Amino acid sequence: MSPSERLSGLRQRAASGGGEARTGQQHAKGKLTARERVDLLLDEGSFTELDAFVMARPTELIPDDERVIGDGVVTGFGRVDGRLVYVFSQDFTVFGGSLAEAHAAKICKVMDLAVRNGAPVIGLNDSGGARIQEGVVSLGGYADIFLRNVLASGVVPQLSAILGPCAGGAVYSPAITDFIAMVRDTSYMFVTGPNVVKTVTHEDVTLDELGGADVHARRSGVAHFESDDEVSCLQLLRRLVGYLPSNNLDPAPLVPTDDPSDRQDSGLDALVPDAASKPYDMKEAIRRVFDDGEMLEVHEGWARNIICAFAHLDGRSVGVVAQQPMVLAGVLDIDASVKAARFVRFCDAFNIPLVTFVDVPGFLPGTAQEHGGIIRNGAKLLYAYAEATVPKLTVITRKAYGGAYDVMSSKHIRGDYNVAWPSAEIAVMGPEGAVNIVYREEIERAKDPEARRKELVASYVERFANPYVAAARGYLDDVIEPHETRPRLIAALRSLAGKRDTNPKRKHGNIPL
Ligand code: HXC
Repeated sequence: MSPSERLSGLRQRAASGGGEARTGQQHAKGKLTARERVDLLLDEGSFTELDAFVMARPTELIPDDERVIGDGVVTGFGRVDGRLVYVFSQDFTVFGGSLAEAHAAKICKVMDLAVRNGAPVIGLNDSGGARIQEGVVSLGGYADIFLRNVLASGVVPQLSAILGPCAGGAVYSPAITDFIAMVRDTSYMFVTGPNVVKTVTHEDVTLDELGGADVHARRSGVAHFESDDEVSCLQLLRRLVGYLPSNNLDPAPLVPTDDPSDRQDSGLDALVPDAASKPYDMKEAIRRVFDDGEMLEVHEGWARNIICAFAHLDGRSVGVVAQQPMVLAGVLDIDASVKAARFVRFCDAFNIPLVTFVDVPGFLPGTAQEHGGIIRNGAKLLYAYAEATVPKLTVITRKAYGGAYDVMSSKHIRGDYNVAWPSAEIAVMGPEGAVNIVYREEIERAKDPEARRKELVASYVERFANPYVAAARGYLDDVIEPHETRPRLIAALRSLAGKRDTNPKRKHGNIPL
């Protein structure tokens, strides 16, 4: 055999992974192979594979002739819309994609390269977890990856797709990454599987009920995105990369648009209903303000009372945080606070400006929230906004009551450009609640208490439930007509292009986790 024949033979063996039969089984489950996924994720022909010939050391349980070239993970680098990314893709056809020494070392190598070269890491996970035959060495391999996940956090974006099983301690690598995408029906994540659950808690639960895409994208908040199939999941990752900078020192790519920067939108003027308790769709406001009406929602199905989305404004990537009055009146609860806090911190870490739309009646009252820790969880959002040094633009569309006013990117916590629509109501609390507390005795003493209460509410609305008290103090930079929101935000964003702001030097702050 010539050297070149030997090389091509080895390459063929590496490419075939666990062999035809197992590849067939993978396809029969509606799943793609590791290499098919890499090809779909990256620009055509851009993949350069590394470590294709890496093999596990022979062990007692996996003798020499059972070892597989590549050791169950395809790694390397390529391009997404021409931009460099590093990728690893676990191959379920090789020992169920299980992770052991060599497999882990391959992943660590691309993670190290990604950090050194300032490019995102994308992990395509499809694995039965720690390779049982290799024992503690597999656990060590996981820990090597976890450490790198932590050290890369805030340095390069880390994205995870879950495209099969992801169980046990293995879930913690994706969990540390910035975003997790799952696929309905074929991917699942849990710390302990249905059998252990049955033994410990006597619950009968299926894989999907325990940790399927719907559960994590709608109930636990573990997954940021869910897709119907692998192809759309991989396309979504490509789209996400388009909003992100390659690392914490580079700017996000500028996306030129034909959407004029001076475009006004009269549709916004009628968006907020006259009645303060009537809902409206905040997504409509977002679509009307940002470039080409486009956004990519993060955690679309979880904590829907707050919207977190990437969008472009004047061609620049921005992170949009906005209350959704259509869900729980846009109140801040535990999940909404945690969702938005993590998003704000991601944007700040990667220098993505924040645009916040506020219509918040306050924090959600009740024992469930208090006992669940709304105090420490709400504090996360306050902390995240306060420490963020990226440009922060805030538009109050309607209510900004109580502590939630302070939290939602207010001037006091370093908002750069804070404006309100004329419909804004900025106050310690809503008129009804305020009047009932401040004028309780007066109302009780009145001849017609209900009539007196109504009078007092009307007077409170006139005096306090408007934006002008805050504007008079300079807490708002301006009160603007809704239709001018886009040009105003663009002018402000342009003025902040050279913003410099820092936090005191310290090892790290102590966010209330
Ligand atoms: C070695 C494994 C493996 C593993 C699967 N395989 N998991 N080999 N180590 N962890 C092998 C199987 O033996 C089988 O080999 C092939 O992969 C496909 O597996 P199947 O069971 O046939 O596939 P399926 O029915 O789809 O079930 C997938 C599965 C199941 C649910 C993932 O294989 C499973 O329960 N595996 C064990 C999961 C587990 O307990 N892992 C350890 C978790 S603890 P053949 O040769 O028959 O094709 C952990 C700790 C991490 O991961 C800690 C980090 C700190």
